[in-house]
Amino acid sequence: MWTANDMPEQSGKTALVTGANSGIGFETAMALYRAGAHVILAGRNIERVENAVDRILSSNGEGKLDSVVFSLSSLSEVKTAAEMISSKISKLDILVNNAGVMTPPAGKTEDGFELQFGINFLAHFALTARLFPLLRKASGSRVVTVSSGAHKFAGSVDLNNVRTEKDYDAGREYAISKLADLQFMVGLQQRLEKAGLDVLSVGAHPGVTASDLSRHMTKADYNAALEQLGELMPAWQGALPSLYAATAKNVTGGGYYGPDGERELKGYPAPAVISKPAKDPALINKLWKFAEEATGTLLF
Ligand SMILES: NC(=O)c1ccc[n+]([C@@H]2O[C@H](COP(=O)([O-])OP(=O)(O)OC[C@H]3O[C@@H](n4cnc5c(N)ncnc54)[C@H](OP(=O)(O)O)[C@@H]3O)[C@@H](O)[C@H]2O)c1
Repeated sequence: MWTANDMPEQSGKTALVTGANSGIGFETAMALYRAGAHVILAGRNIERVENAVDRILSSNGEGKLDSVVFSLSSLSEVKTAAEMISSKISKLDILVNNAGVMTPPAGKTEDGFELQFGINFLAHFALTARLFPLLRKASGSRVVTVSSGAHKFAGSVDLNNVRTEKDYDAGREYAISKLADLQFMVGLQQRLEKAGLDVLSVGAHPGVTASDLSRHMTKADYNAALEQLGELMPAWQGALPSLYAATAKNVTGGGYYGPDGERELKGYPAPAVISKPAKDPALINKLWKFAEEATGTLLF
Protein backbone atom coordinates (compact mmCIF):
# COMPACT_ATOMS: atom_id res chain seq x y z
CA MET A 1 0.00 0.00 0.00
CA TRP A 2 1.74 3.16 -1.28
CA THR A 3 0.90 6.47 0.43
CA ALA A 4 2.28 10.00 0.35
CA ASN A 5 4.62 8.99 3.20
CA ASP A 6 6.43 6.77 0.69
CA MET A 7 7.21 9.68 -1.60
CA PRO A 8 10.90 10.32 -2.10
CA GLU A 9 12.20 13.66 -0.82
CA GLN A 10 11.35 16.36 -3.37
CA SER A 11 13.59 19.25 -2.32
CA GLY A 12 15.36 20.81 -5.27
CA LYS A 13 12.49 19.82 -7.57
CA THR A 14 10.04 22.20 -9.20
CA ALA A 15 6.50 21.05 -9.96
CA LEU A 16 3.55 22.71 -11.66
CA VAL A 17 0.05 21.37 -10.98
CA THR A 18 -2.95 22.56 -12.99
CA GLY A 19 -6.32 22.74 -11.22
CA ALA A 20 -4.38 23.00 -7.96
CA ASN A 21 -6.94 25.06 -6.07
CA SER A 22 -9.31 22.18 -5.41
CA GLY A 23 -9.85 18.44 -5.18
CA ILE A 24 -7.13 16.10 -6.39
CA GLY A 25 -4.93 18.90 -7.73
CA PHE A 26 -4.93 20.67 -4.37
CA GLU A 27 -3.94 17.49 -2.53
CA THR A 28 -1.28 16.72 -5.14
CA ALA A 29 0.21 20.19 -4.80
CA MET A 30 0.12 20.07 -1.00
CA ALA A 31 1.81 16.65 -0.80
CA LEU A 32 4.59 17.75 -3.18
CA TYR A 33 5.10 20.91 -1.12
CA ARG A 34 5.21 18.89 2.10
CA ALA A 35 7.85 16.66 0.52
CA GLY A 36 10.01 19.74 -0.10
CA ALA A 37 9.29 20.66 -3.72
CA HIS A 38 8.92 24.15 -5.13
CA VAL A 39 5.30 23.92 -6.25
CA ILE A 40 3.59 26.27 -8.66
CA LEU A 41 -0.18 26.14 -8.22
CA ALA A 42 -2.08 26.84 -11.43
CA GLY A 43 -5.73 27.85 -11.37
CA ARG A 44 -8.10 30.13 -13.23
CA ASN A 45 -9.53 32.17 -10.37
CA ILE A 46 -7.23 34.36 -8.31
CA GLU A 47 -9.25 34.16 -5.07
CA ARG A 48 -9.56 30.40 -5.20
CA VAL A 49 -5.85 30.08 -5.97
CA GLU A 50 -4.84 32.44 -3.15
CA ASN A 51 -7.07 30.56 -0.76
CA ALA A 52 -5.37 27.30 -1.75
CA VAL A 53 -1.93 28.87 -1.27
CA ASP A 54 -2.94 29.98 2.25
CA ARG A 55 -4.26 26.52 3.13
CA ILE A 56 -1.09 24.84 1.90
CA LEU A 57 1.19 27.31 3.65
CA SER A 58 -0.56 26.60 6.94
CA SER A 59 0.21 22.88 6.51
CA ASN A 60 3.39 21.45 7.86
CA GLY A 61 5.52 21.88 4.74
CA GLU A 62 9.10 22.45 3.78
CA GLY A 63 8.81 23.43 0.16
CA LYS A 64 8.28 26.70 -1.65
CA LEU A 65 5.02 27.91 -3.16
CA ASP A 66 4.17 30.08 -6.13
CA SER A 67 1.04 30.46 -8.16
CA VAL A 68 -0.03 31.32 -11.67
CA VAL A 69 -3.52 32.29 -12.74
CA PHE A 70 -4.76 31.49 -16.23
CA SER A 71 -7.68 29.77 -17.87
CA LEU A 72 -7.20 26.57 -19.81
CA SER A 73 -10.21 27.72 -21.77
CA SER A 74 -7.95 30.09 -23.69
CA LEU A 75 -4.93 28.98 -25.71
CA SER A 76 -3.57 32.52 -25.68
CA GLU A 77 -3.71 32.55 -21.85
CA VAL A 78 -1.87 29.21 -21.85
CA LYS A 79 0.82 30.76 -24.06
CA THR A 80 1.20 33.89 -21.91
CA ALA A 81 1.29 31.84 -18.70
CA ALA A 82 3.93 29.47 -20.09
CA GLU A 83 6.06 32.44 -21.17
CA MET A 84 5.74 33.97 -17.71
CA ILE A 85 6.63 30.69 -15.99
CA SER A 86 9.60 30.22 -18.33
CA SER A 87 10.90 33.66 -17.39
CA LYS A 88 10.82 32.78 -13.68
CA ILE A 89 12.15 29.22 -13.37
CA SER A 90 15.11 27.53 -15.00
CA LYS A 91 13.79 23.94 -15.09
CA LEU A 92 10.62 21.98 -14.46
CA ASP A 93 10.86 18.51 -12.91
CA ILE A 94 7.17 17.63 -12.67
CA LEU A 95 4.20 18.82 -14.70
CA VAL A 96 0.85 17.48 -13.51
CA ASN A 97 -1.84 17.98 -16.15
CA ASN A 98 -4.69 17.63 -13.67
CA ALA A 99 -7.31 20.34 -14.23
CA GLY A 100 -10.58 19.20 -15.67
CA VAL A 101 -14.24 19.82 -16.11
CA MET A 102 -16.95 17.17 -16.33
CA THR A 103 -20.34 17.32 -18.08
CA PRO A 104 -20.79 21.11 -18.10
CA PRO A 105 -23.69 22.62 -20.05
CA ALA A 106 -22.82 22.91 -23.75
CA GLY A 107 -20.21 25.57 -24.29
CA LYS A 108 -17.01 26.42 -26.09
CA THR A 109 -13.55 27.59 -25.17
CA GLU A 110 -12.29 30.98 -26.31
CA ASP A 111 -10.88 29.18 -29.35
CA GLY A 112 -14.19 27.53 -30.22
CA PHE A 113 -13.56 23.98 -28.98
CA GLU A 114 -16.06 21.93 -26.97
CA LEU A 115 -15.27 22.78 -23.33
CA GLN A 116 -14.18 19.35 -22.09
CA PHE A 117 -12.06 18.55 -25.14
CA GLY A 118 -10.56 22.05 -25.06
CA ILE A 119 -9.81 22.25 -21.33
CA ASN A 120 -9.11 18.64 -20.38
CA PHE A 121 -6.99 17.76 -23.40
CA LEU A 122 -6.11 20.48 -25.91
CA ALA A 123 -4.96 23.15 -23.45
CA HIS A 124 -2.80 20.59 -21.62
CA PHE A 125 -1.26 19.51 -24.93
CA ALA A 126 -0.37 23.16 -25.57
CA LEU A 127 0.86 23.74 -22.02
CA THR A 128 3.13 20.68 -22.17
CA ALA A 129 4.52 21.78 -25.52
CA ARG A 130 5.18 25.30 -24.31
CA LEU A 131 6.82 24.12 -21.07
CA PHE A 132 8.78 21.37 -22.79
CA PRO A 133 12.08 23.32 -22.96
CA LEU A 134 11.90 23.65 -19.14
CA LEU A 135 11.11 19.94 -18.72
CA ARG A 136 14.14 19.07 -20.83
CA LYS A 137 16.36 21.14 -18.56
CA ALA A 138 15.55 18.95 -15.54
CA SER A 139 17.01 15.49 -15.39
CA GLY A 140 14.47 12.65 -15.25
CA SER A 141 11.51 15.02 -15.43
CA ARG A 142 7.95 13.70 -15.63
CA VAL A 143 4.73 14.77 -17.33
CA VAL A 144 1.77 13.29 -15.46
CA THR A 145 -1.56 13.36 -17.27
CA VAL A 146 -4.69 12.73 -15.23
CA SER A 147 -7.24 10.69 -17.13
CA SER A 148 -10.24 8.71 -15.90
CA GLY A 149 -11.79 5.27 -15.97
CA ALA A 150 -14.36 7.01 -18.18
CA HIS A 151 -11.84 6.92 -21.06
CA LYS A 152 -12.98 3.32 -21.60
CA PHE A 153 -16.44 4.53 -22.65
CA ALA A 154 -14.99 6.23 -25.75
CA GLY A 155 -13.92 4.26 -28.82
CA SER A 156 -12.21 7.13 -30.59
CA VAL A 157 -11.96 10.91 -30.69
CA ASP A 158 -14.32 12.24 -33.34
CA LEU A 159 -12.21 15.03 -34.80
CA ASN A 160 -15.23 16.16 -36.82
CA ASN A 161 -17.09 17.03 -33.63
CA VAL A 162 -14.47 18.82 -31.51
CA ARG A 163 -16.24 22.16 -32.07
CA THR A 164 -19.62 20.51 -31.38
CA GLU A 165 -20.33 20.42 -35.11
CA LYS A 166 -22.78 17.56 -34.59
CA ASP A 167 -24.62 17.38 -31.29
CA TYR A 168 -23.68 17.71 -27.64
CA ASP A 169 -23.65 14.72 -25.34
CA ALA A 170 -22.01 15.84 -22.10
CA GLY A 171 -21.05 12.35 -20.85
CA ARG A 172 -19.75 11.23 -24.23
CA GLU A 173 -17.60 14.37 -24.65
CA TYR A 174 -16.14 13.84 -21.15
CA ALA A 175 -15.17 10.26 -22.01
CA ILE A 176 -13.67 11.43 -25.31
CA SER A 177 -11.63 14.14 -23.60
CA LYS A 178 -10.23 11.57 -21.17
CA LEU A 179 -9.43 9.16 -24.00
CA ALA A 180 -7.61 12.03 -25.72
CA ASP A 181 -5.66 12.63 -22.48
CA LEU A 182 -4.48 9.02 -22.44
CA GLN A 183 -3.67 8.97 -26.15
CA PHE A 184 -1.59 12.06 -25.48
CA MET A 185 0.17 10.39 -22.54
CA VAL A 186 1.00 7.27 -24.59
CA GLY A 187 1.94 9.25 -27.72
CA LEU A 188 4.21 11.53 -25.74
CA GLN A 189 6.07 8.59 -24.23
CA GLN A 190 6.52 7.02 -27.68
CA ARG A 191 7.98 10.25 -29.04
CA LEU A 192 10.23 10.75 -26.00
CA GLU A 193 11.62 7.24 -26.38
CA LYS A 194 12.17 7.69 -30.10
CA ALA A 195 14.05 10.92 -29.48
CA GLY A 196 15.99 9.38 -26.57
CA LEU A 197 15.00 12.17 -24.18
CA ASP A 198 15.30 12.02 -20.40
CA VAL A 199 11.63 12.83 -19.74
CA LEU A 200 8.88 10.37 -18.75
CA SER A 201 5.23 10.60 -19.71
CA VAL A 202 3.01 8.86 -17.17
CA GLY A 203 -0.77 8.60 -16.67
CA ALA A 204 -2.90 8.48 -13.54
CA HIS A 205 -6.56 8.32 -12.59
CA PRO A 206 -8.19 8.83 -9.20
CA GLY A 207 -10.95 6.20 -9.32
CA VAL A 208 -13.98 7.75 -7.67
CA THR A 209 -13.03 10.65 -5.45
CA ALA A 210 -15.14 13.27 -3.70
CA SER A 211 -14.40 16.67 -5.27
CA ASP A 212 -16.01 19.60 -7.06
CA LEU A 213 -15.92 17.67 -10.34
CA SER A 214 -19.56 16.67 -9.89
CA ARG A 215 -20.67 20.33 -9.73
CA HIS A 216 -22.56 20.04 -13.03
CA MET A 217 -24.43 16.85 -12.10
CA THR A 218 -28.05 17.05 -10.95
CA LYS A 219 -28.65 15.95 -7.38
CA ALA A 220 -30.63 12.98 -8.64
CA ASP A 221 -27.82 11.84 -10.97
CA TYR A 222 -25.25 12.35 -8.23
CA ASN A 223 -27.25 10.29 -5.74
CA ALA A 224 -27.81 7.56 -8.34
CA ALA A 225 -24.04 7.45 -8.97
CA LEU A 226 -23.35 7.22 -5.24
CA GLU A 227 -25.76 4.33 -4.95
CA GLN A 228 -23.83 2.46 -7.65
CA LEU A 229 -20.35 3.38 -6.49
CA GLY A 230 -20.69 3.55 -2.72
CA GLU A 231 -18.75 6.04 -0.67
CA LEU A 232 -16.24 8.11 -2.66
CA MET A 233 -12.58 8.34 -1.66
CA PRO A 234 -11.36 11.51 0.04
CA ALA A 235 -9.32 13.80 -2.23
CA TRP A 236 -6.01 13.06 -0.46
CA GLN A 237 -6.44 9.40 -1.44
CA GLY A 238 -7.57 10.24 -4.97
CA ALA A 239 -4.34 12.20 -5.37
CA LEU A 240 -2.14 9.18 -4.63
CA PRO A 241 -2.02 7.78 -8.20
CA SER A 242 -0.92 11.22 -9.47
CA LEU A 243 1.70 11.46 -6.72
CA TYR A 244 2.88 7.93 -7.45
CA ALA A 245 3.16 8.71 -11.17
CA ALA A 246 5.02 11.93 -10.38
CA THR A 247 7.49 10.62 -7.83
CA ALA A 248 7.67 6.84 -7.26
CA LYS A 249 10.98 5.26 -8.22
CA ASN A 250 9.68 2.21 -10.10
CA VAL A 251 7.32 4.10 -12.41
CA THR A 252 7.77 3.37 -16.10
CA GLY A 253 7.25 5.78 -18.98
CA GLY A 254 3.88 5.14 -20.59
CA GLY A 255 2.67 3.58 -17.31
CA TYR A 256 -0.85 4.31 -16.11
CA TYR A 257 -1.72 4.16 -12.41
CA GLY A 258 -5.00 4.13 -10.50
CA PRO A 259 -6.56 2.67 -7.36
CA ASP A 260 -5.94 -1.05 -6.82
CA GLY A 261 -9.49 -1.98 -5.68
CA GLU A 262 -12.33 -3.59 -7.58
CA ARG A 263 -12.91 -1.98 -11.02
CA GLU A 264 -10.10 0.48 -10.11
CA LEU A 265 -12.66 2.55 -8.20
CA LYS A 266 -10.94 2.85 -4.82
CA GLY A 267 -7.72 1.92 -3.12
CA TYR A 268 -4.03 2.65 -3.40
CA PRO A 269 -1.83 3.18 -6.49
CA ALA A 270 -1.30 0.22 -8.80
CA PRO A 271 -0.97 -0.25 -12.57
CA ALA A 272 -4.30 0.49 -14.27
CA VAL A 273 -5.81 -0.74 -17.51
CA ILE A 274 -5.48 1.38 -20.67
CA SER A 275 -8.13 0.79 -23.34
CA LYS A 276 -7.09 -0.40 -26.80
CA PRO A 277 -7.97 2.87 -28.58
CA ALA A 278 -5.83 4.78 -26.07
CA LYS A 279 -2.80 2.83 -27.30
CA ASP A 280 -3.67 2.74 -31.00
CA PRO A 281 -0.75 4.34 -32.91
CA ALA A 282 -2.90 5.41 -35.88
CA LEU A 283 -5.46 7.13 -33.64
CA ILE A 284 -2.69 8.74 -31.59
CA ASN A 285 -0.93 10.09 -34.67
CA LYS A 286 -4.18 11.54 -36.01
CA LEU A 287 -4.93 13.27 -32.71
CA TRP A 288 -1.35 14.49 -32.39
CA LYS A 289 -1.33 16.12 -35.81
CA PHE A 290 -4.68 17.71 -35.13
CA ALA A 291 -3.56 19.04 -31.73
CA GLU A 292 -0.35 20.53 -33.11
CA GLU A 293 -2.29 22.40 -35.77
CA ALA A 294 -5.12 23.46 -33.46
CA THR A 295 -2.79 24.81 -30.78
CA GLY A 296 -0.01 26.11 -33.02
CA THR A 297 2.53 24.20 -30.95
CA LEU A 298 5.10 21.53 -31.80
CA LEU A 299 6.28 19.25 -29.04
CA PHE A 300 9.52 18.15 -30.67
N1 LIG B 1 -13.06 13.10 -8.82
C1 LIG B 1 -13.08 11.97 -9.50
O1 LIG B 1 -13.70 10.96 -9.08
C2 LIG B 1 -12.35 11.85 -10.80
C3 LIG B 1 -12.44 10.63 -11.51
C4 LIG B 1 -11.72 10.50 -12.69
C5 LIG B 1 -10.94 11.53 -13.15
N2 LIG B 1 -10.87 12.71 -12.46
C6 LIG B 1 -10.01 13.77 -13.00
O2 LIG B 1 -9.27 14.36 -11.95
C7 LIG B 1 -8.92 15.70 -12.31
C8 LIG B 1 -9.15 16.63 -11.13
O3 LIG B 1 -10.53 16.70 -10.87
P1 LIG B 1 -11.15 16.84 -9.39
O4 LIG B 1 -11.94 15.63 -9.15
O5 LIG B 1 -10.12 17.27 -8.44
O6 LIG B 1 -12.22 18.02 -9.66
P2 LIG B 1 -12.30 19.54 -9.14
O7 LIG B 1 -12.23 19.58 -7.67
O8 LIG B 1 -13.50 20.10 -9.82
O9 LIG B 1 -10.97 20.19 -9.71
C9 LIG B 1 -10.85 20.56 -11.05
C10 LIG B 1 -9.85 21.69 -11.16
O10 LIG B 1 -9.74 22.07 -12.55
C11 LIG B 1 -9.85 23.48 -12.61
N3 LIG B 1 -10.36 23.96 -13.88
C12 LIG B 1 -11.55 23.70 -14.45
N4 LIG B 1 -11.70 24.42 -15.57
C13 LIG B 1 -10.56 25.14 -15.72
C14 LIG B 1 -10.12 26.10 -16.66
N5 LIG B 1 -10.86 26.48 -17.70
N6 LIG B 1 -8.88 26.65 -16.50
C15 LIG B 1 -8.11 26.31 -15.45
N7 LIG B 1 -8.49 25.43 -14.51
C16 LIG B 1 -9.71 24.85 -14.65
C17 LIG B 1 -10.81 23.83 -11.48
O11 LIG B 1 -10.74 25.21 -11.19
P3 LIG B 1 -12.02 25.97 -10.50
O12 LIG B 1 -12.06 25.49 -9.09
O13 LIG B 1 -11.66 27.40 -10.65
O14 LIG B 1 -13.22 25.56 -11.28
C18 LIG B 1 -10.27 22.94 -10.38
O15 LIG B 1 -9.15 23.51 -9.79
C19 LIG B 1 -9.75 16.03 -13.55
O16 LIG B 1 -8.92 15.92 -14.70
C20 LIG B 1 -10.80 14.93 -13.59
O17 LIG B 1 -11.25 14.65 -14.89
C21 LIG B 1 -11.56 12.88 -11.29
